[in-house]
Amino acid sequence: MSWIREGELTIIERFCANIIKAGPMPKHVAFIMDGNRRYARKCHVERQQGHSQGFDKLAQTLRWCLNLGIREVTVYAFSIENFKRSKEEVDGLMDLARQKFSRLLEEQENLKKHGVCIRVLGDLPLLPLDIQELIAQAVLATRNYNNDVSESLLDKCLYTSNSPDPDLLIRTSGEVRLSDFLLWQTSHSCLVFQSVLWPEYSFWNLCEAILRFQMNYSALQKARDSYMEERRRQQMERDQAYVAKKLQQEGVVSHGDSRRRWTLLQKCTAMREERIQSFLQALEHKRADFFERLCSVSA
Ligand code: IPE
Ligand code: IPE
Ligand code: MG
Repeated sequence: MSWIREGELTIIERFCANIIKAGPMPKHVAFIMDGNRRYARKCHVERQQGHSQGFDKLAQTLRWCLNLGIREVTVYAFSIENFKRSKEEVDGLMDLARQKFSRLLEEQENLKKHGVCIRVLGDLPLLPLDIQELIAQAVLATRNYNNDVSESLLDKCLYTSNSPDPDLLIRTSGEVRLSDFLLWQTSHSCLVFQSVLWPEYSFWNLCEAILRFQMNYSALQKARDSYMEERRRQQMERDQAYVAKKLQQEGVVSHGDSRRRWTLLQKCTAMREERIQSFLQALEHKRADFFERLCSVSA
């Protein structure tokens, strides 16, 4: 049996899924799967059993997402803070993750046919030292190009840069905090906090969260659009200020030479793009090297 459970929705679930799908759907959903230990206590089972059921619930939730046409899911399975738990619990969680995620990765080829892609992300504090150095070098190299440093560059430097930001973030178990999860990427996402404990999460809980996303859709969209517009405007303003300075250095003071101004503006944008691309390529190489070394150490 596939880890992402086989099987379609029941008739009533399918009926509701079709109604929901008539509205705007989130393309990317992030989950903070919380409440495994409380669930174990509630059901008088071992803590490890709660975690195991939590992983199984993830398999079931991924299937629902697939059925709802949600192609991108990011989950918070373990945080840096979680290393502070007892060794026994951390080891148990790592064993589960190894078992369940390796099964998921084995199924990658099959999932690709459904347009599903799997990526395992690390946490920012785990940024390898040489990448920190690279960023430091980049800061030095670009000190004459302050225009290069922008929020959009920061987006491109993150591990998540290949994905659109989550449209919807769901945290279960009634906790209303993000615990450092995707803080930057969720600034314009719909945040839904649900009281259900993660191992008890149901298709109906997911539908409720999507409905809340749909109810807030136009406000979210508006906020996202005006933020992007503001970013573009700020970049344009910085570029124009740079060009004005250049023209002043060249001794062009009047506003008359608009052709020269336009050429410089184009040149400035193209050169920035070139610098950014080569920086991102170097970052990508460093990352690939780092992961290669990490895999050869842990092999
Ligand atoms: C979430 O459930 C799973 C992990 C953090 C690994 P918890 O283990 O935090 O369970 P609660 O929140 O204490 O019930
Ligand atoms: C953190 O879990 C996020 C995960 C569910 C993996 P915790 O339940 O430990 O959250 P905090 O640290 O109490 O916020
Ligand atoms: Mg918790």
